[in-house]
Amino acid sequence: MTTKLVVKTITIVICLFAMSCKHSDEHKYHTVIDKIEAESLNYDAVTVSSETFNETINTVKVSEDGYEFLIPERKSQIASYNCTECHTQPIEKLKQDQVGEKAAHWNIKIEHAGLETMNCATCHTSNNMDELHSLTNSPIDFNLSYKLCSQCHQQEFKDWKGGAHGKQLGGWAPPRLSNTCVNCHNPHKPAFEKRWPVRFNTTVEQERK
Ligand code: HEC
Ligand code: HEC
Ligand code: HEC
Ligand code: HEC
Repeated sequence: MTTKLVVKTITIVICLFAMSCKHSDEHKYHTVIDKIEAESLNYDAVTVSSETFNETINTVKVSEDGYEFLIPERKSQIASYNCTECHTQPIEKLKQDQVGEKAAHWNIKIEHAGLETMNCATCHTSNNMDELHSLTNSPIDFNLSYKLCSQCHQQEFKDWKGGAHGKQLGGWAPPRLSNTCVNCHNPHKPAFEKRWPVRFNTTVEQERK
């Protein structure tokens, strides 16, 4: 019995040895580690990119404190842009011409900060409506309107730069593409409405049966 077992064991060991030798002959490498190390020498040649997922979105480059990423372009998404199609004259003049008619932007009411903090002119530039401006009157491009928000919402801006606030679009591989503030927040009414969670309707479920 025991000799049989010994013979069996020896046979198995020889077989395994033969197999493993054949294996390493075939693939040149002695161990898996050797193989990984050798074959990863050319790893730089492999590039992974999310670009194909982003093809349908026009993007703008953002570079803020060492963070570089893309955000969706906005101007082509704003129906009333270019503003200067109408805003060739001072607002007072436009208002006079408009007397008796519905105000041009009747649907825009600020539900953001109080009137002592903010009115239309805090963000929009009456002598060049095609641009926004900072609190110190530096022009801000409509595509980069996050620069406007960041003046007063530093914490969210920091989180957003780092990728914690907001949403990343496309894939996990670079280049990073993130939604910008106005993709989610209406600048005129930025808070979200409260919503009830969806509830399971047991009555409907019983009637179906
Ligand atoms: C179709 C014409 C038209 C376009 C396009 C247009 N506006 Fe106006 N806008 C007006 C008129 C007219 C007024 C005068 C206000 C009124 O109608 O009572 C006005 C007024 C305003 C005012 C002052 C509102 C107030 O109550 O003092 C702001 C700010 C403004 N527009 C911003 C913009 C911006 C920003 C754009 C582009 C994104 C734009 N407008 C595009 C016609 C236009
Ligand atoms: C907190 C800054 C801020 C204030 C205050 C503000 N806007 Fe805007 N507004 C913006 C930004 C940013 C956009 C561009 C949003 C986008 O990219 O879609 C915009 C877009 C617009 C547009 C074009 C989009 C549309 O909905 O037609 C009009 C018109 C406009 N604003 C008018 C006004 C008027 C009138 C007021 C005052 C009653 C006002 N805004 C106050 C920041 C502001
Ligand atoms: C001039 C300063 C200023 C600018 C510029 C500004 N905000 Fe605000 N924002 C405020 C203030 C003040 C409040 C009110 C805070 C409160 O009620 O607690 C507010 C409120 C908000 C809220 C609601 C917070 C809540 O209580 O739920 C959001 C979201 C927001 N802002 C987003 C934006 C975005 C997006 C932009 C850029 C388009 C922007 N803000 C530009 C000052 C600003
Ligand atoms: C992908 C969508 C998205 C983007 C992009 C985004 N936010 Fe928000 N933001 C949210 C949501 C969701 C909340 C939570 C709202 C709530 O709790 O009611 C929020 C909350 C906020 C609040 C209120 C925070 C509080 O404590 O109540 C502010 C202010 C704000 N965002 C500003 C910004 C600014 C500034 C940017 C751009 C730098 C930005 N957000 C980009 C979705 C977004």
